Amino acid sequence: MKAKIAASILTADAANLGNAARQAEMAGADYLHVDVMDGHFVPNITFGPTVVAALRKATNLPLDVHLMIEQPERHITAFAEAGAHILTVQVEACVHLHRVVQQMRELGVKPGVALNPATPLASIEEILGDLELVLIMTVNPGFGGQRLIPATLDKLQRLRQKTEAIGWHGELEVDGGINPATVAAAVQAGANVLVVGAGLYNTGTTLAEAMAHLRKAMGD
Ligand code: DX5
Ligand code: ZN
Repeated sequence: MKAKIAASILTADAANLGNAARQAEMAGADYLHVDVMDGHFVPNITFGPTVVAALRKATNLPLDVHLMIEQPERHITAFAEAGAHILTVQVEACVHLHRVVQQMRELGVKPGVALNPATPLASIEEILGDLELVLIMTVNPGFGGQRLIPATLDKLQRLRQKTEAIGWHGELEVDGGINPATVAAAVQAGANVLVVGAGLYNTGTTLAEAMAHLRKAMGD
């Protein structure tokens, strides 16, 4: 099946996020990826539920909301009510991951869990069956425009083998440093959702051209 593109607005023009969302939709993105950072779990600070609610009105794309925040259980209701379709928490930020995942299900959002580059797959082994999405971070979270860490694709490949062996049909997403030079390797390693930020919004071409370039590199 064709891999999906999640356009990440992290490095788009912050004064024109609605426009960035509409451009992604017109260019054929599958999801809009929204990076929420709290200045604690990661050094940077970005968007809150108000921005998610505004984006919900600006686009029909499903909102793929990536929470790089501590104690996400305190905020997931607000992000669900703001219109998130997928909510992904960082496993490193959750003391009671099972409870957080149940909370997301009760709120009617698709539960996802993200793993930092140094976090082993074993951290989600017991809960995989309750998840709809696993996000393998291909950079250390915090900033757009970083280079992909090759060892993370090896981890992704091992996860893909495992999900096939047990018949788990959720989504496997990669995030960070995905561009025309790296996208084929990510798909090859088993990703079916590709988060792309700088590779779409900071290329010096139109978003439609950047998207076509990416799809070509993926062999679509
Ligand atoms: C990184 C964020 C990413 C970021 C990816 O901490 O989670 O979603 O937007 O950006 P690029 O594609 O520029 O590496
Ligand atoms: Zn992200």
